[in-house]
Amino acid sequence: MPTREQLRIELKQRRDQHSETECEKLSVSICEHIRRSKLFINRQRLALYYSVGNEVNLEHLFHYAWALNKTLFLPVLSRFPKGHLWWIQYIENTPMYLNRYQIPEPVHSGHARRTKLRSLDVVFMPLVGFDDKGNRLGMGGGFYDRSLSRCFRQSTTWHRPVRIGVAYSWQQLTKIPNEPWDIPLDAIVTEQGITWF
Ligand SMILES: Nc1ncnc2c1ncn2[C@@H]1O[C@H](COP(=O)(O)OP(=O)(O)OP(=O)(O)O)[C@@H](O)[C@H]1O
Ligand SMILES: [Mg+2]
Repeated sequence: MPTREQLRIELKQRRDQHSETECEKLSVSICEHIRRSKLFINRQRLALYYSVGNEVNLEHLFHYAWALNKTLFLPVLSRFPKGHLWWIQYIENTPMYLNRYQIPEPVHSGHARRTKLRSLDVVFMPLVGFDDKGNRLGMGGGFYDRSLSRCFRQSTTWHRPVRIGVAYSWQQLTKIPNEPWDIPLDAIVTEQGITWF
């Protein structure tokens, strides 16, 4: 069985084989599925993300969501403790800067009030690979796992956000070997629609 690191390399190569135009077309269709889902229509506080490289691009949802008066959040790298994400409210025309991974983040002060994760309704996450059990393989930093772990392990289902992986269908693997710290996904959305685990 290939290791997680081998799978990550293989999946990243696979992702690079698809053209920007193709990824963009699929991203539009993925955003369309999200837009039409109860998950989006009936929920108010949504955490989205800015894509890097060929990751699924959710930018098509930003203005649409603001027009519906949804409250949007973006992840930012925490200053302390390191290795965690904070979610910062994202309003239109917020000044942005690039973090050390070249991902845009809303400008915020070091004391930016941390949004309570359990106050979010849905967290959409990019990923490198997923399987039919809801296992998620990310970029390998463990940022999402670390940030979601306390909320996931301590809160009841009603008090934690729904965790949605966002991917192209070709990012699916038969099986991803999972580690004790991995936080599973509740559902995955691809260009083929939403699948719940
Ligand atoms: N809750 C946690 N507490 C401490 N360390 C953790 C935790 N979660 C993950 N890690 C560490 O992070 C490292 C990377 O984790 P993993 O391989 O699961 O990343 P990933 O899920 O692919 O990345 P990401 O979530 O950033 O997209 C692991 O080696 C692990 O030691
Ligand atoms: Mg993980």
